[in-house]
Amino acid sequence: MRVPVSDVGLGDRAADVLRGNDLGSMTAAAPRLYPHMWSWDSGLIAVGLARLSVPRAITELRTLLRAQWATGMIPHIVFSEGDGYFPGPQRWATESAAAAPAAVRTSGICQPPVHALAVRRILDAGRAAGGADRAEAEAFVRDTFGAWLAWHRWLATARDPDGRGLVEIHHGWESGMDNSPRWDQPYAAVVPGDDLPGFVRTDVDHVGDLRERPTDAEYGRYLWIVEQLRRVRYDDDAAREVVGFRVADVFMSAILAVASDELAGIGDELGFDDDAAELRELAARFRAGVRSTVSPSTGLARDLDRRSGRWIATETVAGFAPLFCGVDDGSQRALFWGERWCGHPALAHPLPPSVSPADPGLRPRTYWRGPVWPIVSWLFSWAFERQGDDDGARRLRAASLRQLAGGDFGEYYEPFTGEPLGSLHQSWTAAVALDWLAR
Ligand code: SER
Repeated sequence: MRVPVSDVGLGDRAADVLRGNDLGSMTAAAPRLYPHMWSWDSGLIAVGLARLSVPRAITELRTLLRAQWATGMIPHIVFSEGDGYFPGPQRWATESAAAAPAAVRTSGICQPPVHALAVRRILDAGRAAGGADRAEAEAFVRDTFGAWLAWHRWLATARDPDGRGLVEIHHGWESGMDNSPRWDQPYAAVVPGDDLPGFVRTDVDHVGDLRERPTDAEYGRYLWIVEQLRRVRYDDDAAREVVGFRVADVFMSAILAVASDELAGIGDELGFDDDAAELRELAARFRAGVRSTVSPSTGLARDLDRRSGRWIATETVAGFAPLFCGVDDGSQRALFWGERWCGHPALAHPLPPSVSPADPGLRPRTYWRGPVWPIVSWLFSWAFERQGDDDGARRLRAASLRQLAGGDFGEYYEPFTGEPLGSLHQSWTAAVALDWLAR
């Protein structure tokens, strides 16, 4: 039997995970499976690092920003010197892209814009510590505000060209929820060409149980889209024309809305009034976009397949995008704690799985098709706290700390047994544990 560690012991172990994965100026997302920096991982890692060392948290985000493209896009992977991950920099070949940075090797797609949440945490932690930490945090925020603004502007233009308030993604990897059932319908229309270069997966070498990872057929589609984007040199306009996957992602849109509010608040403090006003408008547009997707029959938000024009109505945690970004009338909150979700009697912990536990299609061990992801629980607890729902935030924090008490910091957890799955010592899981322990 696994012996739970105390909160103090858990914090020490979480800090050890981040130190163990520290490559100097970036934190590997996980020791073997993900030996590079991932964009949304790095945002959440910085939230945890801010609890350990404000300067180290700043270094993390400065490293990420060195990889920002001239368009404003922040790429989803910043490659370290490490290997063992596929697809690596040779496969992405982003050096052909006019907007890619010259000095850093990156992928050519993006991930959810959680970074402003970390910038806020860093500023607050620096101010609480005072002295040199305060000065460094304030300088960091002033220096980098324009870069974060450019990132949000890129999402709001290149990825919402008709201004409907929904972020369009061109790969399931961009959502961060790679193989979620949300993407099954649009991926069904992605048929790899005969000229797809061959590939050998490495993820399956690092995760023992193959059921926990996407299938080979899914990987063929993932690599085909990379090929389509590579052939147009990752040009934003050309990508929209050629890419086989174009989906308005409702959860990414909700993240952009709340992150824009955070950045607007920072803009106010810096005296950047026009930028703050622009960010507030952007947040309002994306909130309205999120609200427009709600299904009258299920009450859940939906993604929109831009190629077929069809709604995607899956019962996944992303359906709670309105609750997350604060446009819920109360009905989603009831659904979230009810029997189809956190209140389902078979769950090991009252936390939201990636797919409804009442959905017979849930696959309890398979990546984004059923497991509970601690960072998703953290995002909702962050949102509830921000909305003044202290009770909701406290419930998610308490249940999550019980889930993590074994000290393994799994990438994701089996919803009914609580078993840690995927990579252990996953950096962002350790990071959100540190943030919860410090609340
Ligand atoms: N999560 C992806 C992977 O599994 C990369 O973004 O490789």
